[in-house]
Amino acid sequence: MKKIILGISSSISAYKACDLTRLFVRDGYSVFPLLTENAAQLVSPLALEVLSGNSVYAETFPSERREMVHIELKKDADLFLVAPATANIIGKMANGIADDLLSTTYLSVKCPVLLAPAMNPDMWSHPAVQANIEKLKERGVNFIDPASGLVACGDEGTGRLADINDIFNAAKKLV
Ligand SMILES: Cc1cc2nc3c(=O)[nH]c(=O)nc-3n(C[C@H](O)[C@H](O)[C@H](O)COP(=O)(O)O)c2cc1C
Repeated sequence: MKKIILGISSSISAYKACDLTRLFVRDGYSVFPLLTENAAQLVSPLALEVLSGNSVYAETFPSERREMVHIELKKDADLFLVAPATANIIGKMANGIADDLLSTTYLSVKCPVLLAPAMNPDMWSHPAVQANIEKLKERGVNFIDPASGLVACGDEGTGRLADINDIFNAAKKLV
């Protein structure tokens, strides 16, 4: 069974990770959700645990476990997908910052990486964000670009999380 680490960072669209998890599970993939601590405010870790059938990870130093979670998780991973990917997690990945479980695990994986950014259109077009994306692309990281339209804050432009079916299909091309 192919193993997908599904990173979820704290965009308002984080709830869509639940439906994305279902698409993968129905198609026979094993999904390991890995949330940033902020994302756990926006989507239920319990819902992701039930939908994936696997433990949900968020803490680098969980009180009940002794192993190094980022090393355990990355073993046998076939794809490292972050959906949604915030401006913050993209910036950390581009610059080698490893200050939480998601960014630390990214630095340790050897499998293909796919990011599905989601953010306000002004954030998306910011030169810092675009420069980070270019840096990651140069290193072989794959992207599924955000869609255009109305975003949750009421602004209009490019920044909405890509359709989950499109993310699912892009992921399947890599794994
Ligand atoms: C309700 C809410 C929605 C947010 N949506 C987004 C978003 O879509 N994209 C983004 O880059 N940041 C968004 N942010 C800001 C991030 O949550 C913030 O930058 C945070 O520090 C990112 O942490 P993380 O990357 O560790 O999850 C949102 C914040 C709030 C409170």
